Amino acid sequence: MGESMAGLKRTHRCTEVTEGHLGQEVIVMGWVQKRRDLGKLIFVDLRDRTGLLQIVFDSQTIDAVLFSKAEKIRNEFVLAVTGIVASRGAEGINPNMKTGMLEIHVSDFRILSEAETPPFEIVENSTVKDELRLKHRYLDLRRPDLQRKLMIRHQVTALTREVLNQEGFLEIETPMLTKSTPEGARDYLVPSRIHPDHFYALPQSPQLFKQLLMASGFDRYYQIVKCFRDEDLRADRQPEFTQIDMELSFVDIEDVMEVNERLLVKLFKEVMDVDISLPIPRMTYQEAMDRFGSDKPDIRFGMELVNLSNLVKESEFGVFRTAVENGGSVRAINATGCGNFPRRQIDRLGDLAKEYGGKGLAWLVIEEDGSYRSPIAKFFSEELLDRIVETMNGKAGDLLLFCADQDDVVYDVLGHIRLELAEQLQLVKADDYQFLWVTEFPLLEWAEEQQRYVAKHHPFTMPMEEDLHLLESEPQRVRAKAYDMVLNGVEIGGGSIRIHQRDIQEKMFKVLGFTEEEAYERFGFLLNAFQYGTPPHGGLAYGLDRIVMLMTGSDSIRDVIAFPKVKDASCLMTEAPGEVDLKQLEELHIQLKN
Ligand code: AMO
Ligand code: AMP
Repeated sequence: MGESMAGLKRTHRCTEVTEGHLGQEVIVMGWVQKRRDLGKLIFVDLRDRTGLLQIVFDSQTIDAVLFSKAEKIRNEFVLAVTGIVASRGAEGINPNMKTGMLEIHVSDFRILSEAETPPFEIVENSTVKDELRLKHRYLDLRRPDLQRKLMIRHQVTALTREVLNQEGFLEIETPMLTKSTPEGARDYLVPSRIHPDHFYALPQSPQLFKQLLMASGFDRYYQIVKCFRDEDLRADRQPEFTQIDMELSFVDIEDVMEVNERLLVKLFKEVMDVDISLPIPRMTYQEAMDRFGSDKPDIRFGMELVNLSNLVKESEFGVFRTAVENGGSVRAINATGCGNFPRRQIDRLGDLAKEYGGKGLAWLVIEEDGSYRSPIAKFFSEELLDRIVETMNGKAGDLLLFCADQDDVVYDVLGHIRLELAEQLQLVKADDYQFLWVTEFPLLEWAEEQQRYVAKHHPFTMPMEEDLHLLESEPQRVRAKAYDMVLNGVEIGGGSIRIHQRDIQEKMFKVLGFTEEEAYERFGFLLNAFQYGTPPHGGLAYGLDRIVMLMTGSDSIRDVIAFPKVKDASCLMTEAPGEVDLKQLEELHIQLKN
């Protein structure tokens, strides 16, 4: 049901109508946000993606047929309105609306589409349950806050293209139906109809293709590209997400960083009016772990970790002593001013420590009179306690929190306690943007279940020259030419310089426990290509969704993706994934188990 718009042409979007148009006839089109029927006068707020405009239907000036049609108007009807731009009476002015001084006096209008009452109201910052909103995402997306977020996303991609084009990059597409890529998450597979028992993998990133484009001589590539990873979902993780992906030839770390700093400066200035001061600070992975317990530290606040291993290793407290004896450590943070936390609150932090694999979270309160209150004080001499407090820079009213374990557990526990405290104490300002390069990541990490080393970034990441000699003897000590871009505790991007020499690549595969055949089976096309002249190259990829999430102050990347998935990786609107016809499966040579 609805009238045709034949013969009509929209002249303005709702908020493009300004005082400059007073007395002029305009044609506007949009959705009914709200209507007020005063009997002889009907007011409608008309909405489009730019905002609202007040429309007045006056029974004195339009004919009876038209007015009775206006009486049928309901929320979310789509209208085409022809009318004269007028000033509102003084009492009608709405200072909260961009067009709050104006209204349109209708001379003619059409109902282009009627609407049933929507399952929820289309308002900013809706408190309606996520499930209902996502089921009707097309309605949810009518909300001005979500429209604004997607417009910012558009601005980011448009600017990114502008900057990278200027920097001499070429935008080149890479396949979606491909072979498994080396990021190490689980693949999404697509069965082949033509090749029974064979599957394509959807790319986890364009990693191998962008390296091949460097081998092909394209020199600088970028792409704003969908990537697919079958991982457990979190606030900043979706099964399909978008990367701003790039690769550059004839570069080393500095060159990649410089281009990217220019890109970030431009993006944050133009979109957010935030000035990033250059150069963006850098911190090695090891320093980030030691000071913040995280490889994506939020540096907007302190409460840094302090290593107390040397101080406490001789103490009477078995938990601390054995942690150090077993090659682990004892570290602590000073929760400044938290000495007044009730016992319950401290215990909750202890529970959190256990969630992250800790065995406990010992604590010590420095009372206002300078005395100590702590369940572990009895294990320490007065003198040692004083030295611990001094090392922690403890003052009256502070709470010290200790964790003893293997280093990775200690980092994880205290790193998360630190974030939790910042949240509880509201230590961060919303408009504070602190960027950080994290560098010198370990090249490898030990995978317990596979009993072998795996690449921390991916198997084509270049070791640091100064560590190359350790690759076979002490692989765990080798650092990589890899870097992450971190913003406010979120990893927004990561990349590396790649191996372009055959001998180093072969050594790398050996350390990773791939035989030559296995390496060729998986990455043969890349290794073959590299036999024919490959420039030194490196690159980086941003999580576009994460950048826009931070720019828009969203809690989840879901809010900046038009049609996102929920926690179980399904889409509530399309109900994907869905069942398929048996006939389709047959063609794909697939038989279902159940
Ligand atoms: P990496 O795996 O670090 O590197 O991914 C790059 C960036 O992509 C974002 N990201 C995600 N965002 C949302 N949901 C996800 N599931 C998800 N996974 C990753 C993160 C991350 O920093 N090929 C390499 C890049 C390179 O070496 O050039 C790569 O994909 O913000
Ligand atoms: P317990 O001797 O087990 O009663 O522990 C005494 C205190 O030490 C409690 O506050 C525990 O939470 C804490 N604790 C136990 N294990 C650890 C550990 N590995 N690291 C830090 N604190 C711990």
